[in-house]
Amino acid sequence: MRDEQPILLNPGPVKLTERVRAALTKVDLCHREPEFADLMLEIKSRLRAVYREAAHDYEAVLLSGSGTLAVEAMFQSLLPRRGKLLTLANGAYGERIHDLVTISGKASKLVRADWPEPMDLKSAERILAEDPAVTHVAAVHNETTTGRLNDLDSLGALCRRYDKPLLLDAVSSFGGERVEFERWNLAALAATANKCLHAAPGLSFVLARRDCLEPGEGEKSPAGAIYLDLFRYYEAQKSGFSPYTMTTHAAVAFREALEELEREGGYEARMARYREVSGRIRQGLGALGVECFLESHCYSSMISSFYLPEGYDYDRLHDVLRREGFVIYAGQGGLAHRIFRIANMGWLTDADVERLIEVFRRGI
Ligand SMILES: Cc1ncc(COP(=O)(O)O)c(C=O)c1O
Repeated sequence: MRDEQPILLNPGPVKLTERVRAALTKVDLCHREPEFADLMLEIKSRLRAVYREAAHDYEAVLLSGSGTLAVEAMFQSLLPRRGKLLTLANGAYGERIHDLVTISGKASKLVRADWPEPMDLKSAERILAEDPAVTHVAAVHNETTTGRLNDLDSLGALCRRYDKPLLLDAVSSFGGERVEFERWNLAALAATANKCLHAAPGLSFVLARRDCLEPGEGEKSPAGAIYLDLFRYYEAQKSGFSPYTMTTHAAVAFREALEELEREGGYEARMARYREVSGRIRQGLGALGVECFLESHCYSSMISSFYLPEGYDYDRLHDVLRREGFVIYAGQGGLAHRIFRIANMGWLTDADVERLIEVFRRGI
């Protein structure tokens, strides 16, 4: 086993730059002191600025917890109790949205596609046309299960045509793919610090249209929960404070990571770099006979899935690569014995990519 930092090719947490890693141990802050409030306000403002279009009408609400917390808080708070969600799923994360909404006692109509397939837009349109009870639409931007970048332009056009607000799981795409706020009728998205934004785990967020974060008149607790109540966070965070203890060390590192993103040229530059690297990985492995699970043009910029090579189960492949310092990722659910995944988020050099392909060339 190499004793350097492992090269994380799992879809988050990612390999940090030295600067972001060092920021984690830079200072101990109390989340009730003004210097933390300043930090929080800066992070919120940098998050709004990742996509220029969001800078004016959207607000970031920061949460201490993983991406699932942000997703659950978004649906708990922004889908009204008497609302009905139309959930499009073609992977584990879309199905999880349907599960967490139904477990909370709210209505979700699931339009499920098989995991290797695109979202079923035809069925979704039929339901939108026939069921006036549907109030909101939900989808996953980049379905991490396979690495498929879902067709949000088409789904967003439906949301516009039928005037349904879209609630989007952008946990694995925010900062590494295009997001269209107006065209997709996007009410809110949920995302995390430790994937395309290259920060440490511990913080996630919801970026929501400001008017969605003001509870309606007479609604005391529209979220029906305390810790998942975005309205409470939003109110307190207007001045940079939070109702509950925040992961303060992760916040210091998050600020640093957001500054790095800006210095590197923003999400467009990161997306371009991701595309170049993921293309090189798919081409390199393809040349060695390791086949992509989806057609190449279906992939997001930063997650690819491959059939397991002949004679390898996932554990064996994992262990060969792990000994060389690379951490890859298994398939989920029914795909566990068929595929493996490689993500290219985080601090990844050209030399790392070349060496990865070389390890496959030698070992597989
Ligand atoms: C699309 C998507 N949604 C939600 C999640 C859940 O995030 P977490 O594991 O940080 O809770 C993930 C995690 O990989 C994801 O890829």
